[in-house]
Amino acid sequence: MNNKYKIPEILNTIINGDCIETLKNIPDNSVDLIFADPPYFMQTEGTLLRTEGTAFKGVDDEWDKFSDYEEYDSFCTAWLKECYRILKKDGSIWVIGAFQNIYRIGYIMQNLGYWILNDIVWNKTNPTPNFKGTRFTNANETMLWCTKSKNAKYTFNYKTMKHLNNSKQMKSVWNIGLCIGNERLKDGNGDKVHSTQKPQKLLMNVILSSSKVGDIILDPFMGSGTTGAVAKETGRNFIGIERDKKYICYADERIANIKTQTDNHIFNNSLDIKPPKVGVDILLKNGYLDIGETFYDKNEKNAKTLTNKGHLSDPDNELSIHKMSATILQKSNNNGWDYWFVKRDDKLISIDNLRNKYRKEHLNYNAIYSLPQIIL
Ligand SMILES: C[S@@+](CC[C@H](N)C(=O)[O-])C[C@H]1O[C@@H](n2cnc3c(N)ncnc32)[C@H](O)[C@@H]1O
Repeated sequence: MNNKYKIPEILNTIINGDCIETLKNIPDNSVDLIFADPPYFMQTEGTLLRTEGTAFKGVDDEWDKFSDYEEYDSFCTAWLKECYRILKKDGSIWVIGAFQNIYRIGYIMQNLGYWILNDIVWNKTNPTPNFKGTRFTNANETMLWCTKSKNAKYTFNYKTMKHLNNSKQMKSVWNIGLCIGNERLKDGNGDKVHSTQKPQKLLMNVILSSSKVGDIILDPFMGSGTTGAVAKETGRNFIGIERDKKYICYADERIANIKTQTDNHIFNNSLDIKPPKVGVDILLKNGYLDIGETFYDKNEKNAKTLTNKGHLSDPDNELSIHKMSATILQKSNNNGWDYWFVKRDDKLISIDNLRNKYRKEHLNYNAIYSLPQIIL
């Protein structure tokens, strides 16, 4: 009997069930991104007391209990195998864990064929102190970001992440606070709904860096629904799996209250979307450039003539805009679009600007060069 789910039927829902059994019913190569926040197998015992004597509610949930490492490892091997099968060839997966489990998970993932792209350190800016003073304050968790193979053509929105990091290349250490305040889901008594609700900012970085609008993001351990909430806000689809109905109720309500921001350039990864190709020949054909007109460098020290083939010529050479600029600069190659200008109303105008004018007027494409800094 074929009891496989059809993706449209489970899109933007949280399936109640065991993740291994549920994953088995999801078709091969069907999701673009997976975010997994599995049980940590913390092995905590007894009540942890704060320095002033009150009890601290850590992770002592039933869902985190396993009898030994063997049981934990076979559980992780089973769900990671299914994730491998359902992930698209060029998709990617993030698995978050702490020192108690992440080394085991990394070993299992590599053995299953996953290729690690990065291990991201979530540096908690407001960690829980080590109340007894017997060890260092444990202030980080690790996320393994992996593909199905070394050659996968995975999504990485480099420019978006650089923009979010004050125009500096984003590093593998992320400083983000624990989920507190209004963001933390509370029950009727004011108690935390979920002991390990992840901060939205963490999921924002994951989703914005490694997925596109409309992608399908699967979370096999959905908990309080953080992945679904951020997926919906940023215009992605989600599929959640969670075995505890109570968490699903809270997560469904949380996600229902989120509005998708369709016009947000950051969420749409506008900086990373490649503009449509437009060549010099197209600009010539559409009257943006004229045969025989002069191309200048920015200091007007070099001037060349545009030929009917869309090349630049001088008495010695006829070369492409790129090769001509590279020859002048004595380089093996150079981007001519950044080098050449033409004159309009006696002013120099970059040919790249002319190309963008064409894209806007004929292809309905608006080039985004920079965006105002947004604090998410
Ligand atoms: C670490 S929490 C995930 C928290 C979530 N990322 C969030 O932000 O709320 C792990 C979740 O996995 C669920 N879980 C544990 N074992 C499971 C299993 N075998 N199948 C499905 N869900 C499971 C637990 O009920 C728990 O909610």
